[in-house]
Amino acid sequence: MSHAEDHEGTRRDFLYYATAGAGAVTAGAAVWPLVNQMNPSADVQALSSIRVDVGGVEPGTQLTVKWLGKPVFIRRRTEAEIETARAVEVSELPDGIARNENIDGQVPATDENRALDEAGEWLVQMGVCTHLGCVPIGNAGDYALDGNIGGWFCPCHGSHYDLSGRIRKGPAPENLPVPVAEFVDDATIKLG
Ligand code: FES
Repeated sequence: MSHAEDHEGTRRDFLYYATAGAGAVTAGAAVWPLVNQMNPSADVQALSSIRVDVGGVEPGTQLTVKWLGKPVFIRRRTEAEIETARAVEVSELPDGIARNENIDGQVPATDENRALDEAGEWLVQMGVCTHLGCVPIGNAGDYALDGNIGGWFCPCHGSHYDLSGRIRKGPAPENLPVPVAEFVDDATIKLG
């Protein structure tokens, strides 16, 4: 093996182990499709996407991954979380807009309009408080189920988000934003 090949092999191994060591997240360099440059949020989306292996995420638990320098919460919800989130009337919500980048226009903030899949098992949202940008704490706040399951609480100034990441109490003006996301296979979510 020449020195150059040897070097390349070593580098590949290094990248492999670095990826494995980073846990469930693998970074890609997918180019944002040209058509999306028409989307007003294209500048926010930037030019990168990541794939997240969610195969090991059990119901009632969540992953936090870093994407475009910000935390993203990926939660696999229990039946109780889904049922409770879906029983909420939009009229009860301080912010009645879904804030879901996967849906065009301003649609109502039903849980169905925020969850990633039809059954509502997966909720993907930016982990950035819409008040002043702190990172909310998961399984916390007044809208968690008994035993502190689900819900998010931002301790900076006391914003409570419900089981669907919708603001319910405190100074935050908007629901946690749902970024562009999709399942690319059974166990992989692509962000961006
Ligand atoms: S930054 Fe979250 S409540 Fe102020």
